[in-house]
Amino acid sequence: MVGTFDIAINKIAKSRVEEYDVNNVPFGKCFSDHMLVAEYKDGKWAPPQIIPYGDMPLSYAMSALHYGQAIFEGMKAYKNAAGVVSLFRPHENFKRLNRSALRMAMPEVPEEIFIGGLIELMRLDSAWVPTSETGSLYIRPFLIATDEAIGVRASDTYKFVIITCPAGNYYNEPIKVLVEQDYFRAVKGGVGFVKAAGNYGRSLFPTRMAQAKGYQQVIWTDSETHQYVEESGTMNLMFVIDNTVITPALSDTILSGITRDSVLTLARAWNLKVEERKISITEILEAHKNGTLQEAFGCGTAATIAQITSIGYKDADYTLPAVETRQFSTKVDAYLRQIRKGQVEDTFKWMISV
Ligand code: PLP
Ligand code: COI
Repeated sequence: MVGTFDIAINKIAKSRVEEYDVNNVPFGKCFSDHMLVAEYKDGKWAPPQIIPYGDMPLSYAMSALHYGQAIFEGMKAYKNAAGVVSLFRPHENFKRLNRSALRMAMPEVPEEIFIGGLIELMRLDSAWVPTSETGSLYIRPFLIATDEAIGVRASDTYKFVIITCPAGNYYNEPIKVLVEQDYFRAVKGGVGFVKAAGNYGRSLFPTRMAQAKGYQQVIWTDSETHQYVEESGTMNLMFVIDNTVITPALSDTILSGITRDSVLTLARAWNLKVEERKISITEILEAHKNGTLQEAFGCGTAATIAQITSIGYKDADYTLPAVETRQFSTKVDAYLRQIRKGQVEDTFKWMISV
């Protein structure tokens, strides 16, 4: 059920949209006219408000800044040829935000605020949704602890905010990835399965080192044996080996990607063999050696389908088959784009028009 909260709207006097070419802006740097803000205090949520995008006056002692009680989501809205704006599987992001909230000892955000508020925001800022073939409006909902308090404890007050920005491709080209052997993204019992801000901060140094060696991203391995692949950057990983689509099984060290789920749903609908299980570097390199490694790609909201052209492991690079030969990932990429742009029937009812 959506839409029982009254949302106060403070509309901007004059839209800034004409200052930009929304089909051609760098990812995450230009923000649309409005944002949604809701505050939690005294054990309850106040009605959300939509206000002009801007800065927030907050205390330097704010607990999110010091101890990382902060979570976020990433999702997208698309515009079809008729100008209709739709969200891709927004309820999945809503549910995942609340799984993150639970793990980080934060209050759950009600559906009327997340989904109801987002729909109102999209209606107001629809002019910011790109029309280009690969363009979308990237949506960043986030929840932060706002207590002005230095003690280490769960905050009593929180802010839930949604900001949005027009986006094109996150990666402009297929990527080279390096299997990370010294650092981990997530550990058993940790927070790898949720979108906690600290997961991203901790990834920057190893990623910078990989980039200095000419790779775009790292492949994270499990923290216990370093033998099994987990994720790459901000993407879930997929391999096609001997015509079987293989991806690491979900666990408490892997984010349950909505793109991952969509890719697997399509693979199954197309009668491909799918395996969700542990996959070791040895198995991948073995398949590379005997010619059965057909495809490797990352998938995620920002990255969409990011083809992996080579995998670096212990000072050697293993080049993968040319992207043009990759039947599954190129079909999935095109099909997802068509569903999102309303060009094929939305069989799975993934799109919610606003
Ligand atoms: N894994 C990580 C660590 C991520 O940050 C993301 C991006 O959100 C994903 C996977 C992909 O998830 P989704 O497809 O829901 O965007
Ligand atoms: C997303 O794909 O939505 C993400 O959250 C990645 C982001 C950190 C750019």
